Amino acid sequence: MSTRQREGKAKIILPGPRPGTLVLRYKDDLTAFNRQKQSTAEGKGILNNGITCAIFERLSTLMIPNHHIEKLGARTELVHELEMLPIEVIVRNRAAGSLCKRLGLERGAVLPRSLVEFCYKDDDLGDPLISDEHITCFGWALPQELDDIIAYSLRINDYLQGLFAGFNMLFVDMKLEFGRVYDEEGESRILLGDEITPDTCRLWNMRAEESFDKDLFREEKGGLIEAYREIATKLGVPTAVTRE
Ligand code: TMP
Ligand code: ASP
Repeated sequence: MSTRQREGKAKIILPGPRPGTLVLRYKDDLTAFNRQKQSTAEGKGILNNGITCAIFERLSTLMIPNHHIEKLGARTELVHELEMLPIEVIVRNRAAGSLCKRLGLERGAVLPRSLVEFCYKDDDLGDPLISDEHITCFGWALPQELDDIIAYSLRINDYLQGLFAGFNMLFVDMKLEFGRVYDEEGESRILLGDEITPDTCRLWNMRAEESFDKDLFREEKGGLIEAYREIATKLGVPTAVTRE
């Protein structure tokens, strides 16, 4: 393994062909609950690469600044290298997952409005929930950057809710990550990074009975690849599993 290669839970990060670029290679590995559950699903990386590229291309047409440059291969994506912020942004439309546990809400309850939450990215601490005050107090993002992040997150959420409603699906929640890029004058701006895939969001059928996301693995329900393939197909992504 090259010393410049880094490996995350779902992707390998490789140096890109030009300075300021990276190649993301989507893996078949599945993890949940901070690696307490681990497995692999053959073809997941190919489906997730296709799905995230298709979504980020749509976000680019909406002028939402993001890291995506192009899909390189079945499993690989060329992106702008970002200085990642150590926060996760979660946007929720209905109650699910940790929100139900934390506040005793019924699964599927419609929230009064889209809810934005933040977590501090630290595996050893279990990515704790934080407030915007923590983010600005500890300098994880500047107040203006946080305003941009919230505005982009809500626009992305509105768009994806509409997109998936058109596929007869509920866009329940998602996790986003952002980073900075610098221009020649050293001025920075915020871009959406990471991925938007069924690993990082919740998608249900309209009656809220069926999941098409990583909850199938978290809850050991099975059928994950079939569900991800259905999402890819709806987005017009080729779903053949190739050896790459
Ligand atoms: P949660 O209900 O477990 O807090 O998850 C909220 C959303 O964020 C859900 O769509 C899954 C996604 N998520 C991640 O992508 N990575 C994570 O580490 C966690 C905890 C959640
Ligand atoms: N992404 C986290 C993990 O891989 C948690 C989760 O998605 O449930 O462990």
